[in-house]
Amino acid sequence: MRLIGPFSQILTLADLPIKGPIANSDLQIIENGGVLLKNGKIHSVGKFEVLRNTSTADLEEIEKEMVLIPGMVDCHTHLLWGGSRAADFERRNSGMTYQEILNQGGGILDTVEKTRNASDDLLTIDLNARLDRHLKRGITTVEVKTGYGLSAEHEIRFLRLINEVLRGHVADVIPTFLGAHVCPKDFGKSDYLDHLVNEVFPVLLEEELTDRVDIFVEEEAFDYCLADRYLAQAKKSGFRLTAHAGQFSPEGVHSAVNQGALSADHLETIGSDEIEKLANSETVAVALPGASLGLGMDFTPARQLLDGGASLAIATDWNPGSAPNGDLLTQASILATYEKLTNAEILAGITFRAAGALGLYDRGRIEEGKIADFVGFPTSDYREIVYHQGQLQPKKVWKKGELL
Ligand code: NIG
Ligand code: FE
Repeated sequence: MRLIGPFSQILTLADLPIKGPIANSDLQIIENGGVLLKNGKIHSVGKFEVLRNTSTADLEEIEKEMVLIPGMVDCHTHLLWGGSRAADFERRNSGMTYQEILNQGGGILDTVEKTRNASDDLLTIDLNARLDRHLKRGITTVEVKTGYGLSAEHEIRFLRLINEVLRGHVADVIPTFLGAHVCPKDFGKSDYLDHLVNEVFPVLLEEELTDRVDIFVEEEAFDYCLADRYLAQAKKSGFRLTAHAGQFSPEGVHSAVNQGALSADHLETIGSDEIEKLANSETVAVALPGASLGLGMDFTPARQLLDGGASLAIATDWNPGSAPNGDLLTQASILATYEKLTNAEILAGITFRAAGALGLYDRGRIEEGKIADFVGFPTSDYREIVYHQGQLQPKKVWKKGELL
């Protein structure tokens, strides 16, 4: 056993609800706290002095002021890509829309070409570097989607690559199949989705490359009817579901919820119908403020979602097109100021609620039995974390109990 502490404050997030609003006064804060670990898991949490006097554990002493929170979870990224879309960024800021660029064969399709042409070595190096950056900033669990392959051959190639990287990286990587990102140039939409179901699903299952399927539901990508059919087929094949929904039009949310998706992500354009639908479901609403910042769009109505009773997670959507920034804490802090979210709601949204969006209930809170993933910030007041809008960087990160 190992005892780590004393920490100025430990934010356990232990008793907070999975859905709905959370007041800052609901935060359980242990002043001068310690954590007792065993085999990479949390054995107990409490006052440091009490834990020290009642156990014979080895001590890992914290000498300076430090606030401890659970390891953060980025539940939506597209970290496997080649090339850059700086030219798109410039074009959009000169007046062209994201959808216009896509309809002209650019945008996502441009990244597809660059990613297909990139070597496995280069893609591996870049993916590892992005995961390293996240880990340093306290993100210990990262979802990574495909979606820049858009053919059985390349989508399977990229999923194998993500799986290879996940076996070697300290962070937990959760792969997701987003073959249904947009339709490649050489296919009709319906035929392409059939191609994924017939040619890719069996390989994913056979090689256990992922148990998660995603689709971009939008007129420019796959409309509601196509998406609904595809999600139903994915569910029938045994996959867990998530969807890019509500970014430019709200319909996709209905399909995601009806099909029992773990999460519906984006939601920038949703109205009261979709908010009610999400609130009455187990589907986690995932806000992606990095995409709002990247495209200059409204933020997801996070306040309304929470007040309506939904579970709200926050993720980066880190990708070369709509969301090149990739900094979770910065984005969550900015979302807080625009949407008037409490510190408790922000912290929940980037820890256990984000884990919930991935169907993971073994992390995201500092309590007995959970995986010992933590982040220590060099401050004695937890409010400094969100207040500095991402500029207060973690001093220490632990993954499965190991200090990195
Ligand atoms: O979540 N909207 C669809 N897909 C990604 C963007 C991918 C890209 O532009 O390369 C998103 O924003
Ligand atoms: Fe995305």
